[in-house]
Amino acid sequence: MHIFEEWISQADQRPAKRPWVSLCYAQSLDGCVTLQRGRPLVLSGAETRRLTHWLRSKHDAIVVGSGTVLADNPQLTVRLVEGQSPQPIILDSRLRTPPNARLISGHPRPAWIATAEPTAPVHRAALEAAGATLLFLPPDKNGGVALTSLLDCLAQRGVSRLMVEGGAQVITSFLASGLVDVLCVTIAPVLLGGLHAVEQALPHPLRLREVYVETLGGDVVVWGKLD
Ligand SMILES: NC(=O)c1ccc[n+]([C@@H]2O[C@H](COP(=O)([O-])OP(=O)(O)OC[C@H]3O[C@@H](n4cnc5c(N)ncnc54)[C@H](OP(=O)(O)O)[C@@H]3O)[C@@H](O)[C@H]2O)c1
Repeated sequence: MHIFEEWISQADQRPAKRPWVSLCYAQSLDGCVTLQRGRPLVLSGAETRRLTHWLRSKHDAIVVGSGTVLADNPQLTVRLVEGQSPQPIILDSRLRTPPNARLISGHPRPAWIATAEPTAPVHRAALEAAGATLLFLPPDKNGGVALTSLLDCLAQRGVSRLMVEGGAQVITSFLASGLVDVLCVTIAPVLLGGLHAVEQALPHPLRLREVYVETLGGDVVVWGKLD
């Protein structure tokens, strides 16, 4: 059994007050998720892309930020392995997601959009007409969606395993919030000097427990638990 499945089964046995959160992304050797904010870049090889799809299939829902939707227009579906696609969720305080984003109009489970302000009624109506569900949540101190409220809301909606896939601002806020249970980082053998995954100093250093390292194709994957 893969260590991740063992961790998931342990998580399933705990009394669930909030979803179990795994943060999974790909970075360069120098810690960047892309060359330039807003520009997509494929970092992982074929084997680690397959791993990402396998990880998606193990979760009920998957979160990305509006920056990633605007830059990559991702699908976040499970295509390279057997399994169900998780419910996509977009963190989007200002409702910048276009109604024709693939996570809404091209997805078997149109996205839930977590937003902090019930403004822009015209855009709201267009998103809902395209199939999106809007979740109105309190803002955090930076004006983004408050992540503890997001997890409470998702627990009420039956989400018990949540995967966070990026981009940089979302990775940084989840790590800073202390809400991440497991980290899975794919490291591609490339140097970028670009947009760092963790863009700001965290409140304190985060050290992984139970660290596992595997090589898949040309990439290295680091797994570990966070408190
Ligand atoms: N290598 C990888 O694994 C990977 C994965 C995903 C993306 N990427 C890359 O990452 C880049 C996008 O990253 P990004 O940092 O620009 O955008 P992002 O992290 O995808 O989205 C950030 C946006 O999400 C919204 N948001 C709402 N609540 C938030 C909260 N609590 N914390 C953080 N954000 C919140 C904010 O926009 P509002 O204020 O409008 O709400 C914020 O500007 C793209 O170039 C993409 O290609 C790489």
